[in-house]
Amino acid sequence: MSIPTITLNDGHTIPQLGLGVFLMDPGITQKHVAFALANGYRHIDTAASYGNEQEVGRAIAESGLQRDELFVTTKLWNDRQTDAPAALAESLDKLGLDYVDLYLIHWPTPKFDTYLDAWHSMEGLRADGLARSIGVSNFHEKHLRRLIAESDVVPAVNQIEVHPTLAQFDLIAVNDELGIATEAWSPLGRKADLDNEVIVRIAERQGKSPAQVILRWHIQRGNIVFPKSQNPDRLKQNFDIFDFELSDDDVLAIDGIGGENRVGPDPETFNRH
Ligand code: A2P
Repeated sequence: MSIPTITLNDGHTIPQLGLGVFLMDPGITQKHVAFALANGYRHIDTAASYGNEQEVGRAIAESGLQRDELFVTTKLWNDRQTDAPAALAESLDKLGLDYVDLYLIHWPTPKFDTYLDAWHSMEGLRADGLARSIGVSNFHEKHLRRLIAESDVVPAVNQIEVHPTLAQFDLIAVNDELGIATEAWSPLGRKADLDNEVIVRIAERQGKSPAQVILRWHIQRGNIVFPKSQNPDRLKQNFDIFDFELSDDDVLAIDGIGGENRVGPDPETFNRH
């Protein structure tokens, strides 16, 4: 099955669907990533703070896939924003890779005000070929505009919490205006959105699961998604969303669900080191 790709503002392409491994226990990560790769997934989204880069790396090594067939993202943790080159070197070592496809500043952590330092280092990491693309995560409009005003590279992506009950249309419009692709983390709202009556009704009509309908909504809206599942059947199900389409009316109905149902931290106040 061929997964659609999105072309980033630096010319690189990213598969629009991948596997996220947030909260995936290191003890089972290798097995699940290996299963995903054997079943067609080619895009894996991890982070230094997830504590499972090594297991992701082992699954990649045993997959037998060529490096250029894979898209691997990792993220710079908050306490390393003034130390990005060493932090990326550690991540690459754990992943067993010479470069990552995408390296992200994980959170803006406004209290520490070091994300510009991190970004300037990451511009160098990109120039050195250690990260093909660089971007940010959990950035609000003011963080994005400041970063862009004070640097030479516009982030390739902004990875933010997006799902039907936190649709983030305003922030996505800012991403679009700035030429930044939107990556949606917790695309299913950590399961909270699966029971929504609008989703359930569309799923029943389409003969698909609520998760497949939500993922399809993301794909049709242009978001990049990497739902996490550590269940083999759901992992396959989440990949199997390219044989149907939502009508414009269905997309609009999901757009209309509304809500501010944040399942993760608020970037304005999240300063954990
Ligand atoms: P599991 O790992 O047992 O499949 P999000 O990506 O929005 O953070 O959501 C992740 C959560 O959604 C996990 O608890 C995961 O559980 C669950 N999940 C992932 N895919 C599906 C699916 N197709 N149907 C139901 N739940 C799912």
